[in-house]
Amino acid sequence: MPTITVALGERSYPVHIGHGLMGQAGEYLRRALGECSLAIITDDHVAPLYLQTVEQSLAAAGYRTASIVLPHGEQTKCLDKLSEVYSFLCDSRITRRDAVIALGGGVIGDLAGLAAATYLRGVRFVQIPTTLLAQVDSSVGGKVAVDLPQGKNLVGAFWQPSLVLCDPETLNTLTPEYWRDGLGEVVKYGCIGDPELFRLLEAAAPGGRRGVMTHIDEILRRCIRHKADVVEQDEHDTGLRMTLNFGHTIAHAVEKCQHYTGFRHGEAVSLGMSVITRLSESRRLTEAGSAARLDALLSALDLPMRLPDIPESDLVAAMGMDKKASGKALRIILLDRIGQCRIHTADADFFRGMPRD
Ligand code: NAD
Ligand code: GLY
Repeated sequence: MPTITVALGERSYPVHIGHGLMGQAGEYLRRALGECSLAIITDDHVAPLYLQTVEQSLAAAGYRTASIVLPHGEQTKCLDKLSEVYSFLCDSRITRRDAVIALGGGVIGDLAGLAAATYLRGVRFVQIPTTLLAQVDSSVGGKVAVDLPQGKNLVGAFWQPSLVLCDPETLNTLTPEYWRDGLGEVVKYGCIGDPELFRLLEAAAPGGRRGVMTHIDEILRRCIRHKADVVEQDEHDTGLRMTLNFGHTIAHAVEKCQHYTGFRHGEAVSLGMSVITRLSESRRLTEAGSAARLDALLSALDLPMRLPDIPESDLVAAMGMDKKASGKALRIILLDRIGQCRIHTADADFFRGMPRD
């Protein structure tokens, strides 16, 4: 069973990847945390599928647990639900020596992580991610946050987990939409730094979801290793960690213009990666042929590549680069070629003539 260590000195932690880990949570937590009480935070899609398995495993390892089941969806990542979680932690008599468990996707991980970072000035926390996006991205690296009405992730912290338990079996119950959504982020890792992962995906994609699942351990291991390497070098997002935002400048602009009711995040990242690579290749900033190769993979994975019908001026304004911000430059991520990227400084002109076909 692969284990990846995120090496951050005293705050280092393991990410275990293994089929059936969910049912062994108790043993892993006992080794990592010792004796304590545990507060499990999950949502109403995940709870009926996995909460009992986790609770039983923790009880068998001698843990006292309390659980809260929140509504699923991005709306749960808000101050009201954070406040509800604080009340739950108080009512469950969670003290500084105890720990919070996030059992779910990125929404639960971000919310539970922020609760753990702030309750009693910080308690330990464990991520048990159950979506592909959460397993390859959000559960590792310590970014935790909630949204405000003014925007996403506006209140947050860096708070690393003590342990991450990644059970690929949970991916079998994801809806097709959330499976695809996570694949967008997986392709991103191949593009920015892992040409072998990209080749693996090219070989697996024609086999559909089952074909990709055949290689899921290797895929998770590569993505998580990449994320861990980046976080080890730039925990607080001042340089290298920005490369994880490949495709995200256009993705965020599209999501904002659609008021977060159109494409899901991973889908928006997919079309963002495609558009920026076609644009940069046309400017000879990316090796010829990269965009076609990327589009072929995205298409085989049933991921979108085309911009929706939003005026270019609106998209550029959503990037914070409208006329009012003349002269402003953005740091964006471009591919040198598939498997290698760099940070590039661009102004609004760079985005003129974004491909529409
Ligand atoms: P999510 O947590 O909303 O999960 C997606 C849906 O799948 C939900 O309805 C959930 O109930 C359901 N679900 C979860 N696991 C399931 C399973 N195994 N089987 C069936 N259904 C399951 O969404 P997400 O895509 O996991 O995460 C998105 C969030 O992650 C966003 O809020 C985003 O901002 C955040 N994020 C954070 C980071 C970070 O570094 N902290 C990185 C990327 C994204
Ligand atoms: N998801 C981007 C990051 O963790 O920095």
